[in-house]
Amino acid sequence: MLERVLPYAKTLLSSVIKEGDVAVDATAGNGHDTVFLAELVGDSGFVYAFDIQQQAVDATKDRLKKHGLEKRVKVILDGHEHLSKYIQEEIAGAIFNLGYLPGGSHDIITKGATTISAIQQLLSRLKIGGLIVLVVYPGHEGGKEERDAVIEYVSQLPQKYVHVLRYEFINQKNDPPFLIALEKMKKLPDSE
Ligand SMILES: C[S@@+](CC[C@H](N)C(=O)[O-])C[C@H]1O[C@@H](n2cnc3c(N)ncnc32)[C@H](O)[C@@H]1O
Repeated sequence: MLERVLPYAKTLLSSVIKEGDVAVDATAGNGHDTVFLAELVGDSGFVYAFDIQQQAVDATKDRLKKHGLEKRVKVILDGHEHLSKYIQEEIAGAIFNLGYLPGGSHDIITKGATTISAIQQLLSRLKIGGLIVLVVYPGHEGGKEERDAVIEYVSQLPQKYVHVLRYEFINQKNDPPFLIALEKMKKLPDSE
């Protein structure tokens, strides 16, 4: 069976994130992916989760508490484009679930420029062999602009340094989500 997009994102992340690793949820939302990452890194690992909405930070903290995982995670009320301010360690994996907060305002959405800035910062901190996974939603207002900006940026990354995958069901109607995964192969020339 062909794995669906969201389960495939988890399959990819669990192939690289191990006990003791540092991982990033760039769009915490209701905290589902944050919990998933916190389980992968185990007691000796750590997760940084970002969201610009207080509602999302609260929902994520609540979900972590319910799972007894709050000690493994720092939930940060700030944009992922500022992640270098918060993270100095080497990162094993990161996830972006783009778009708007389910159950929240459809006007607060991720945007191409800030998503790309976060990807650049993550690439410089990613381990060799580490993965950045993005689930892209082109269906909502503003979604296609973000999709086009992200695709344009990741397509030009030199393959010597980053392998870029697009995983997509191409015969589904209504702009279904698709996945982009970036695997760091080699230290990038301009990274610290
Ligand atoms: C599709 S939702 C994430 C869903 C989440 N993964 C979950 O499990 O519920 C996208 C989230 O990105 C957040 N967001 C928008 N711009 C952001 C930014 N610059 N930095 C961090 N989060 C942002 C929104 O507030 C929203 O909660």
